[in-house]
Amino acid sequence: MLWGDLEISPRYSESAAVTLFLGDRLDLLRQVPTERARLVVTSPPYNIGKKYEKRVRFDDYLKQQEETIAECVRVLARDGSLCWQVGNPCAPLDRAGRPAGSGMV
Ligand SMILES: C[S@@+](CC[C@H](N)C(=O)[O-])C[C@H]1O[C@@H](n2cnc3c(N)ncnc32)[C@H](O)[C@@H]1O
Repeated sequence: MLWGDLEISPRYSESAAVTLFLGDRLDLLRQVPTERARLVVTSPPYNIGKKYEKRVRFDDYLKQQEETIAECVRVLARDGSLCWQVGNPCAPLDRAGRPAGSGMV
């Protein structure tokens, strides 16, 4: 689809300026080549009972988030940045008694 001169694709495309994907985040992320992104900005489900979300067990929520983060990290360039919007209070990993980078709190 074109919007003016802008190509908008319903799936990831090297040539498209914009991808508008309707579906599961992993199905989109898996289309993106490794180390292709300079910046990932995401606001995944918070699992805190927002009107638009269905709460799941916390362990299941963490597993979903870990899958998503792993794919985001895979698509990020080595000097890329990941902005992760969360709905739960978080502690810096090192203050929670775990070394930074060892997993989620
Ligand atoms: C915290 S909200 C994001 C709100 C958004 N940042 C905004 O300001 O409107 C999380 C969003 O993730 C979507 N979502 C939930 N599970 C998803 C999945 N498996 N794949 C893609 N999106 C999903 C929900 O529909 C919801 O819109």
